Amino acid sequence: MAAVTLSDLPRVRVDTTLPVVDKLTKAIYDDQKRTVRLLQPSDFVECSALLQDRTTSMGHFSPDIYRDDTPEGRKHFEQALNDPDSLHYGLFVIQSGDQSLLEGVGGVVVTTSSWPSYYYTIRKIEDDDTKEFHNNWEIFFHGVYRHWWELPRKEAKLEVFGFSVPKDPTGVLKPLECLCTTVKQGDYQNEKRIQRSDFAKCKTLPDGDVYWRFTRPISVSTTVPDLQNLRMSFQPFTTEKYGLILRLLNLSDTEALHRLWSEEQPMNDFGTGPDVNMEATQRHMNTVLQNESNNNRLELGIFLERNGEEGELIGCIGTDLWETDWPSIFFVLKGEHQRHKYGRDFIKAYTTFWWNLKRKEVEIPGIRATTIDYDVAPNFKAAVKATELLCAVVDKNNVASEGLLKAGGFENNGDFTDTETYWRLKKPDA
Ligand SMILES: CC(C)(COP(=O)(O)OP(=O)(O)OC[C@H]1O[C@@H](n2cnc3c(N)ncnc32)[C@H](O)[C@@H]1OP(=O)(O)O)[C@@H](O)C(=O)NCCC(=O)NCCS
Repeated sequence: MAAVTLSDLPRVRVDTTLPVVDKLTKAIYDDQKRTVRLLQPSDFVECSALLQDRTTSMGHFSPDIYRDDTPEGRKHFEQALNDPDSLHYGLFVIQSGDQSLLEGVGGVVVTTSSWPSYYYTIRKIEDDDTKEFHNNWEIFFHGVYRHWWELPRKEAKLEVFGFSVPKDPTGVLKPLECLCTTVKQGDYQNEKRIQRSDFAKCKTLPDGDVYWRFTRPISVSTTVPDLQNLRMSFQPFTTEKYGLILRLLNLSDTEALHRLWSEEQPMNDFGTGPDVNMEATQRHMNTVLQNESNNNRLELGIFLERNGEEGELIGCIGTDLWETDWPSIFFVLKGEHQRHKYGRDFIKAYTTFWWNLKRKEVEIPGIRATTIDYDVAPNFKAAVKATELLCAVVDKNNVASEGLLKAGGFENNGDFTDTETYWRLKKPDA
């Protein structure tokens, strides 16, 4: 049987969007130490020097625009910069005086036969992961990313790999604009950076490269609970089966919380690790109360019921509210009380309580399109109306957490990162 090649992979035509590119000359990022701006023809010699010496630079793909310092190389570079849809940026680090040195290049190459492709190359500094290198890489990526997604949009028709078109959670293809990139198999350092840049792994291609996709984040018009002044009206409530009592935490719970928060296994699985001493728990408690008064986290203690009264504190459950993501649930239980089906009981009581809280209308930007079902590919500016979700990001090794979310009616929404899955629960109809 003949080997499958890239050209054998099925492709589909999609009606999507692309940026209306503005070849601005001013910097898109400037912090007195580093500048990110679009490359100019006069940058050719520096670009050529950086890209030709691969021993001094790190990058995962570089399009064929940076050639040798020859008249043809220069002409080729200038033509590439004149491409009306693609953008090529440089990262300049300011030296003493007004001198600045090119430390990295990158950008987005647009053709009609692919999603726009992101690339970067940053100069290595001694070893690849020095702080300086990391700062350069991060500033560069965030500058490019923000500029790219904030540009106004126009309608566009592209032909792309079928597997690369985003689907909504019901499996329907949604040709929402993507950025793509490929990384060589086994190139873990670049893979790590691309993953930290919010790209998600899509597929291993026949030539061994791994295809990564970054789906345009969208704005969602939805509801969230209004947590303002919740403490004033809060009433403790009990679970159905075991009569566990759930209520807001007080400073007087600190010692009981220390016994829970200093347990290794639950707190390691929880993701924060155990509090090492009472001072750590006091700080932890202050953060909980501070976040509550900022209305961005709700945390309840879970207590055993003893003769109709509140007994031992055995766990916590709550929700974080984010500015650019769905609210996310968290829970933890002391080791000795795990696997007694308490989780099943309190997650039901908690989610019922959560959905019954008073609501307010909000717009959340930056939502991953793959988390919601929507009827049309949204136009770039308008927010998509979506039913509120309660979500969770779970380590793939955390079978207990996955099991509990399933028991609580959450559904697996696919990979969040290589090591984590995303779970969602839709607000029931009013
Ligand atoms: C997640 C956690 C709260 C579960 O609570 P629990 O009271 O032990 O859960 P339950 O006994 O109600 O179990 C509910 C379901 O989850 C699954 N489950 C729970 N613990 C499990 C384990 N150790 N291994 C495999 N599945 C498990 C099972 O499917 C179980 O249903 P079943 O008992 O009918 O088989 C508890 O394990 C915990 O505190 N873990 C540490 C903290 C954490 O990981 N938090 C998640 C990150 S926010």
